[in-house]
Amino acid sequence: MLITYYGHSCFHIQIQGKNILFDPFITGNQQASHINISKIEADYILISHAHNDHVGDSLAIAKRTGATIIGIWEVGVWFEKQGISNVVKMNIGGSWQFDFGKVKLVNAVHTSRFTDGTHGGQPCGFYITTEEGNFYFAGDTALHYDMKLLGKHANVRFAFLPIGDVYTMDVDDALIASKYIKCDKIIGMHYDSFDLIKIDHAKAKDKFANQDKKLYLMTIGEKMEMRNEK
Ligand code: NI
Ligand code: MN
Repeated sequence: MLITYYGHSCFHIQIQGKNILFDPFITGNQQASHINISKIEADYILISHAHNDHVGDSLAIAKRTGATIIGIWEVGVWFEKQGISNVVKMNIGGSWQFDFGKVKLVNAVHTSRFTDGTHGGQPCGFYITTEEGNFYFAGDTALHYDMKLLGKHANVRFAFLPIGDVYTMDVDDALIASKYIKCDKIIGMHYDSFDLIKIDHAKAKDKFANQDKKLYLMTIGEKMEMRNEK
């Protein structure tokens, strides 16, 4: 599967010919000002929670592309109220089979409220099973023990983990999380977008390398092929 990074927690992933977009926050992200939002393709947009650095451009992209929004119930209801009709509303622990793979909503420890004050329900992460490999997108979260469930019962080939600290896990907690989920390939997210969450790239990568793990810190706009291998 081909992964493209659009900054902060926004990734575009091509799976089975479908375009899956996660947490598109591009407008307002200084680091991603060179990204042309009108060129981003989406069949599905997965939203981890209601904060604007995750909902961001999703409404505009959904309206332009007709993409289906996937998220927790309260997030889905908010999108329906904005006039989006293709919405799949789920809740923690539940799965839904799509044409690109199976999406399971998993626990995230964080908060969730839209900019307009609407409560966004529970924040979530996604565990996604596909024929091209399985992966975990943690969303915004603290390190938590439920991650061990993925390590025990799932087969996480690679994972997107927040590493910026202040609002989510930092690098050290993400390293522990990678052990909980039994995964050696981690793609960092939720760092560098604002001054408060700037990280030292070399130090962060070293911490993972010292444990025989790999931390990928993608450049905004970069594409990376992730193969279905251990
Ligand atoms: Ni958040
Ligand atoms: Mn966030």
